[in-house]
Amino acid sequence: MKAHDGIYLDGAWRPALSRDLIDVVDPVDEQVVARVPAAGPDDVDAAVRAARTALPGWAATAPAERAARLTALRDALAARQEEIAETVTAELGSPIGFSRAVHAAVPIAVAGSYAELAASHGFEETVGNSTVLHEPIGVVAAITPWNYPLHQIVAKAAPALAAGCTIVVKPAEDTPLVAQLFAEAAHEAGLPAGVLNLVTGRGPVAGQALAEHPGVDLVSFTGSTAVGRVIGATAGAAVKKVALELGGKSANVILPSADLARAVNVGVANVMSNSGQTCSAWTRMLVHRDRYDEAVELARTAAAKYGDRIGPLVNAKQQARVLGYIEKGVAEGARLVAGSTEPPRERGYFVSPTILADVTPEMTVAQEEIFGPVLSVLRYDDEEDALRIANGTVYGLAGAVWAGDEAEAVAFARRMDTGQVDINGGRFNPLAPFGGYKQSGVGRELGAHGLTEYLQTKSLQF
Ligand code: NAI
Ligand code: MG
Repeated sequence: MKAHDGIYLDGAWRPALSRDLIDVVDPVDEQVVARVPAAGPDDVDAAVRAARTALPGWAATAPAERAARLTALRDALAARQEEIAETVTAELGSPIGFSRAVHAAVPIAVAGSYAELAASHGFEETVGNSTVLHEPIGVVAAITPWNYPLHQIVAKAAPALAAGCTIVVKPAEDTPLVAQLFAEAAHEAGLPAGVLNLVTGRGPVAGQALAEHPGVDLVSFTGSTAVGRVIGATAGAAVKKVALELGGKSANVILPSADLARAVNVGVANVMSNSGQTCSAWTRMLVHRDRYDEAVELARTAAAKYGDRIGPLVNAKQQARVLGYIEKGVAEGARLVAGSTEPPRERGYFVSPTILADVTPEMTVAQEEIFGPVLSVLRYDDEEDALRIANGTVYGLAGAVWAGDEAEAVAFARRMDTGQVDINGGRFNPLAPFGGYKQSGVGRELGAHGLTEYLQTKSLQF
């Protein structure tokens, strides 16, 4: 694969000061496809300084001009659509059709949405005798994961740029190549030097140096709860704003009046998509006890159909982690109705689509994020029981409710402690605020709500 041997700093690709390199591995065949720099603290410092230097100019740029650069960025990404899809397939392992339809297409849509929002957002408002200015918060550090590698970058960089912030991106070790394509697109879009910088590097080195850097005003992190906690604590100590998008254990609640076959089939597809590496995946299916056996049988049939169509997990560590959770589920009494505790192939980080039945709410597989193609199916007695189970984890990122009547589903959704709920299979909306209740995170991404995360107010009184 094509790779830059430098970091994108102050408007150009430059050699990293650190000599360390990261191997990029194709999870399908375990071969190294490229190497990129693993930046050190001095590289991160140079990137933050470039972003600080560029901040006053970009912050003072008229929103219409920022919108024009974002439109150019959208177009530059669109021109690379096929290259983006092939790159994500090489470094994440997702099937090419999914890479095209989701990994490439969604970030282009999101970049386009922020081009429009930059042009239309009210960066000034009147409140009584005050004029309230919505000003950029400053230099943003974006630390992103590998599961939707371009989307996660665009969901931070596009609103930051629309707001007038400058930014340093530290992408995940596993997926730096599509991040480099993003920096290329930003360069081509004519962003002034230093407005966007990319440092590839390891989490505990480059990521930590960036999160701790005193020149950063806002840290936006998506990834594990463990790292999110540390970043939140560090930012809190420095009185720095932080946005955290952490895990989930979302409930797919199938009420007795629902179209069961549809709810189960869409539910299984939701979990198997991207090999289960989706923070908002509906990994707990809740079914009324009278329809439970029928639902498990439908889920088993649905999972069997996925057989060869799901890609591998991103790396050996994630594969081992997911297989370990399946084992733990069985050890705690869950019934394995599809899938296996063993990898299905000798080569590649694959895990079979797995359905665990007879899962009870206190089991590990009903409480912890697994991040693989594993669905836990739970029974409930009545609606109150379903609600208790749905709300009974530390997480609250997404969810789904299915019912014969939309109003019935909405009434249930209102009582769920979670940031998003899809009603009877509602479609993904790139403008709807995305983010967690409880330990799923702090802050919101996407749309106008995502933009305001990168703004702070200044009130002028007259
Ligand atoms: P991770 O939290 O280690 O990685 C996410 C990002 O944080 C990467 O860019 C990484 O380099 C960086 N990072 C790691 N340590 C850091 C540190 N000390 N300071 C600053 N940055 C640091 O996640 P990992 O290990 O790849 O995945 C483990 C689990 O996390 C997954 O199984 C899943 O449950 C969860 N996860 C959740 C995601 C989400 O979308 N909310 C995305 C990826 C993982
Ligand atoms: Mg890690």
